Amino acid sequence: MWVKVLNSAPREGTMVGAIVDGKKVFVTMNNSVLYAAENRCPHEDIELTLGCIKGNRVKCSLHGYSFDLATGDSLDEQVENMQTYAVKQENHKIYINL
Ligand code: FES
Repeated sequence: MWVKVLNSAPREGTMVGAIVDGKKVFVTMNNSVLYAAENRCPHEDIELTLGCIKGNRVKCSLHGYSFDLATGDSLDEQVENMQTYAVKQENHKIYINL
C-alpha cells in the first residue's frame, strides 16, 4: 500500500521524519537516491533521525550502530536490521510502500 509521507523530497543528506498509520518513518536523499525506513533504532528504540548519514548508512546517535539505507543491514548479528520501505516520488510528492 503506497502512502504519501512528504510533499517534497528531503534535501541531500538530510533525514525527514513522518508518522504514517501510526508508524514513525523517515525519508532521506543520499547521492540523489531516495530511501525510506522505520524511524526507530532496532537496538534500543530511539529515533534514527537523531543520528546522521555516513556513506550509505544511517548511524544511530546513541551507541553508534549503523544500518544500510537500502537493505537495513546492521552488520552486527546481535542487532536486528532496520526496517526499510520502497519509496518513490510522483509530482514532487514522496510515497512509501508500507
Ligand atoms: S539505540 Fe541505536 S545503537 Fe543503541
